[in-house]
Amino acid sequence: MREIKNFLVCGGGMMGSAIAQILAGLDGAKVTVYDVFPVDIAAKVRGNMKLLVEKGIVTEADVDKIVSKISFTQDMKSEGVKSAELVVECVLEDMQMKQDLFAQLEEVVAEDTIFCTNTSVMSPTEISAKCKHKERLCGTHFWNPAFLIPLVEVVKTDATTEEVADTVMKVLTDAGKKPVLCKKDVPGFIANRMQHALWREAISIVERGIADAETVDDACKYSFGLRLPYLPPLVNSDMVGTQLTYNIHSYVLNDLEDRHDASPLLKEMIDGGKLGFRAEAVDGRREGFMSYTDEEIAAKNAGLNEYLIKMLYNK
Ligand SMILES: NC(=O)c1ccc[n+]([C@@H]2O[C@H](COP(=O)([O-])OP(=O)(O)OC[C@H]3O[C@@H](n4cnc5c(N)ncnc54)[C@H](O)[C@@H]3O)[C@@H](O)[C@H]2O)c1
Repeated sequence: MREIKNFLVCGGGMMGSAIAQILAGLDGAKVTVYDVFPVDIAAKVRGNMKLLVEKGIVTEADVDKIVSKISFTQDMKSEGVKSAELVVECVLEDMQMKQDLFAQLEEVVAEDTIFCTNTSVMSPTEISAKCKHKERLCGTHFWNPAFLIPLVEVVKTDATTEEVADTVMKVLTDAGKKPVLCKKDVPGFIANRMQHALWREAISIVERGIADAETVDDACKYSFGLRLPYLPPLVNSDMVGTQLTYNIHSYVLNDLEDRHDASPLLKEMIDGGKLGFRAEAVDGRREGFMSYTDEEIAAKNAGLNEYLIKMLYNK
């Protein structure tokens, strides 16, 4: 399999800076970040790694080494762009922008340079539409915060070669991630299909007056949510037995939410300004399914990385 050393990350925002950091962790890697606007990529990477240093998971020297392997350019014709063997695209979630960027890259990079798109929800097949060599493109769906969450969904289009998918899986494994192969280009890939099936039911339970929002979250947190990393759905189904799974589904699925559009409750909330953390504050509180002060919002946001580090590194 090909050894890849020269990486290009297009878009130096939240995801791009984290992905550059991950790739720079590979032995002998050189990472170029390309953006249309100036980006202080070193500052972003240092910011990402601050808590890891504080917790003693990496040292300042490790951070310096990662940062020294990343350079930044706004020039599409620069050496860092031209010499890229693998590109991860992290520009805005805009189909035309992504299509045009890959078409532009094809004019500059080698014929066998691998193209990856970090789109959240768009079809990698459609993103490859303006490429001459569609077989070189696949999805690599990282999860935020990408420098902590291990999963990356590698999404094959009908055109993606096995060799490209295998190489991308290997690079990501070597970089310490947990890549999984999504064999078909379907909306939501693998993990978001499951996540949003759960959210659809959670919202429906509130909408139908079965339980209030806080109770729904508690029911998740204090039961299957607690054991999910140990007992994910399919091994859990095996543990209770596929016969019992069949019997439960035969009884209960008929009553579960199966609507194919977004919930009217969500629309009602949006129209009423209940935008969650992004709502306008009224009397010091922002409303969504639940109600929050700014201090509670700041604590919830800051607490995520702490929580993930505890889970992943026991620190
Ligand atoms: N934020 C998330 O949680 C998340 C998770 C998974 C995937 N994604 C996807 O990753 C991509 C990037 O998301 P983000 O949150 O990092 O966005 P972001 O807004 O933080 O960063 C986007 C960057 O792209 C740059 N950019 C814009 N146009 C460009 C162009 N033509 N060429 C090069 N750079 C350009 C911007 O200047 C900016 O720095 C999106 O497709 C998004 O859907 C986001």
